[in-house]
Amino acid sequence: MANPARALPENLEGNFFVDSTCINCGVSRHYAPDIFGDTGSHAFVKNQPQDEQQELAAMQALLACPVGSIGMRERRDLTAARESFPIELAKHIYLNGFNHRNSYGAHSYFINSKTGNWLIDSPRFVSDLVRKFEIMGGIKYIFLTHQDDVADAHRYARHFNAVRIIHKFDSDAQKDAEMILEGKSVHHISEGEIHFTPGHTRGHMVLLWRSKFLFSGDHYAWISSSNRFGSFRDACWYSWERQIESVKKMQAFKDVEWVLPGHGKWKQVEKGQFPKIVEDSVQWMHKVR
Ligand SMILES: [Fe+2]
Repeated sequence: MANPARALPENLEGNFFVDSTCINCGVSRHYAPDIFGDTGSHAFVKNQPQDEQQELAAMQALLACPVGSIGMRERRDLTAARESFPIELAKHIYLNGFNHRNSYGAHSYFINSKTGNWLIDSPRFVSDLVRKFEIMGGIKYIFLTHQDDVADAHRYARHFNAVRIIHKFDSDAQKDAEMILEGKSVHHISEGEIHFTPGHTRGHMVLLWRSKFLFSGDHYAWISSSNRFGSFRDACWYSWERQIESVKKMQAFKDVEWVLPGHGKWKQVEKGQFPKIVEDSVQWMHKVR
């Protein structure tokens, strides 16, 4: 629970505030860019919501915040915001919210499919989401992009009898995963293509769903501060050279129309433009050393 006594001085006066426990993971700005700004070390309230839509976005940010740093001075009903999760971004593709502290607030996603539902990385194990996932038919696969963002995957796996998929090189984070991949660079499971993309970590993988949706983990994202797609140089734990190589390979993903990352903002891509976007990212990444 955010504490008004620890509210940051930068907050614009009004109902919403951010307190000093903020880890500046960026989640609030992804949900409500009109409301939350960046002091450089924390998020802060730069504008108070002016209408219902902005208020809902601010409440979604409050619920998604992994460390509970967003508060309201006057108590308001959060039921509608809680019920809005998971948020449908595109047909059958959902953003889960309830980001987990253990994954430094990484976003997680849900795919609703007739061939079995997927959870991509893990949100907090909260009853609101569990109930929604049950209504939508449970979870068949839990795709873990890499070791950092496993969060509550084991709890979802147990509850839904789901198969956790992780790469061998990152499997220390989920030793009892039901499916540990190695060897082949591409694995086909159901309608998903899993590509090995080492760089951020040694065992990072991305999921390409129906050629159109790229669940990119911490491999590749829209970087708001640079106003471009790329990888985070200062959060590359294994090899920047390997990461550039792995990004370059994604030029083959000609039909990507959505990039859905762990850290960074989810974003649509104009049809047919992804190979060019990747090429530009690679050129930029070579300069960022
Ligand atoms: Fe990561």
